[in-house]
Amino acid sequence: MIPKAGGLWKASHFIWKTTFIRPQFQPYVRMSSSLIRDKAYINGQWTSAKSGATYNVTNPATGEVVGTVPDMDVRDTVAAIETAYKRFQTFKKTTAKERSEKLKVAYRLILGNIDELARILTLENGKPLAESKGEIMYGASFCEWFAEECRRVQGTIVPSPFPTKKIFTLKQPIGVCGMITPWNFPNAMITRKACAAIAAGCTVVLKPAEDTPLSALALCELFDRAGIPAGVMNVVTCNRGNAPAIGKVLCESPLVSHISFTGSSAVGKILLRQSAETVKKCSMELGGNAPFIVFDSADIEVAVRSAMACKFRCAGQTCVCANRFLVQEGIHDKFVEKLTASIKQDVKIGNGMESGVTQGPLINKRAVDKVDSFVEDARKQGANVHVGGQRSSLGDTFYEPTLLSGVTSDMLVSKEEIFGPVVGIAKFKTEEEAIILANGTSAGLAGYVFTSDASQQWRVAEALEYGIVGLNEGLFSCCEGTFGGFKESGLGREGGIGYGIEEYIEVKYLCMGMK
Ligand code: SIN
Repeated sequence: MIPKAGGLWKASHFIWKTTFIRPQFQPYVRMSSSLIRDKAYINGQWTSAKSGATYNVTNPATGEVVGTVPDMDVRDTVAAIETAYKRFQTFKKTTAKERSEKLKVAYRLILGNIDELARILTLENGKPLAESKGEIMYGASFCEWFAEECRRVQGTIVPSPFPTKKIFTLKQPIGVCGMITPWNFPNAMITRKACAAIAAGCTVVLKPAEDTPLSALALCELFDRAGIPAGVMNVVTCNRGNAPAIGKVLCESPLVSHISFTGSSAVGKILLRQSAETVKKCSMELGGNAPFIVFDSADIEVAVRSAMACKFRCAGQTCVCANRFLVQEGIHDKFVEKLTASIKQDVKIGNGMESGVTQGPLINKRAVDKVDSFVEDARKQGANVHVGGQRSSLGDTFYEPTLLSGVTSDMLVSKEEIFGPVVGIAKFKTEEEAIILANGTSAGLAGYVFTSDASQQWRVAEALEYGIVGLNEGLFSCCEGTFGGFKESGLGREGGIGYGIEEYIEVKYLCMGMK
């Protein structure tokens, strides 16, 4: 028997949530954690900013200061790049087996410190603690995955067209990799990039998001304990004011060979422009505007459960969160009713450290202001509010889980990435109409399709201009899958067999003359 949607969602609210839930959470005041660092990490040293400047990291749920880190600038970044470049000259000569062994130790250390890493993550990002534990597992999985991947990076011996020449391809690490990572996955977006690069034999200079540097520094401590050599992983922390200049120097430095960025399409375009002068290889995981299509034949329990998991993960602040719900007219009213009931029953907003909380704060007040303005715009243009639709009384970083119906393509909730806990539902009649609506955006990261008709599953999945399609499934992220988008959602892929590690590899063609 299929349990009702709310129960199902709760029961499986994803490996992120269930696997590590404990009866009692630990207290959550300012911590004296052995993994909390107040310095950046350059050349294996805990390092202050050359200027001596620092800034506070705050808990979005409470506004409390949870840490203080250096507010570094271009001078610190140039020093980190020079260190990484120097280290690359020796690190590129290490064997894949050596790198693999170190990454496997790091993997075990991450899992061995999961409680503390998750607490740090929730304190600086706000997501519920169980979700943070899920993210740490997800992040650790990239460490293990790339430890395995690097042992199998192979060149080729190609049948030569010439009797006097032999031809080969060699695969070599690309060099120093500049990385800029987001606040919504302060752990996993680092390991998804940095572990791939390190496994390939590259060195890294990483700027974590201003809001969430503590998770990045905690990872550095564990990489250090794992024996990853000094200068391989370098983390430069900075506040908002210095971020654009640091991004620019990473993109423009001739010593940096690769840029990897996860964040908005607008910033991605700036970094691509800045990287053009030195013709850098770039991997870009940019914004989405995911359609979530529910056809009349869909299993409604599965569709509702998947909508809950995919929409409310990280309070709706992921690039792959469903953004536009397109629901066929025959199932529309029932879907609206069941999803509204599930939101009312299953979402508990609050401080992510508190037991039972499923939706934490948004990252800051600006994010709430943006979400609220989108809902206001939809309301003014005629959308109906079934639940939520307003700021939460819990504080100025909280927004109520919201469901709107009667949404049209002209509304901001359809045109832009919401990045908040708001479901906007539009009704459609035919498959053709759904595909046109779904593809009618410059984004192309993830899309979702719910239908019991096998032919329709293939037809629609093929027609969608998206890099990832969830078929009767709302959660697909794993190290084995290839993550990345079409159109303005990005360039390159992360994770997966071959794809993720190849981003950090150059191919050399060797032609050998024979006597
Ligand atoms: C993202 O939102 O950028 C990443 C989401 C994921 O890896 O599932």
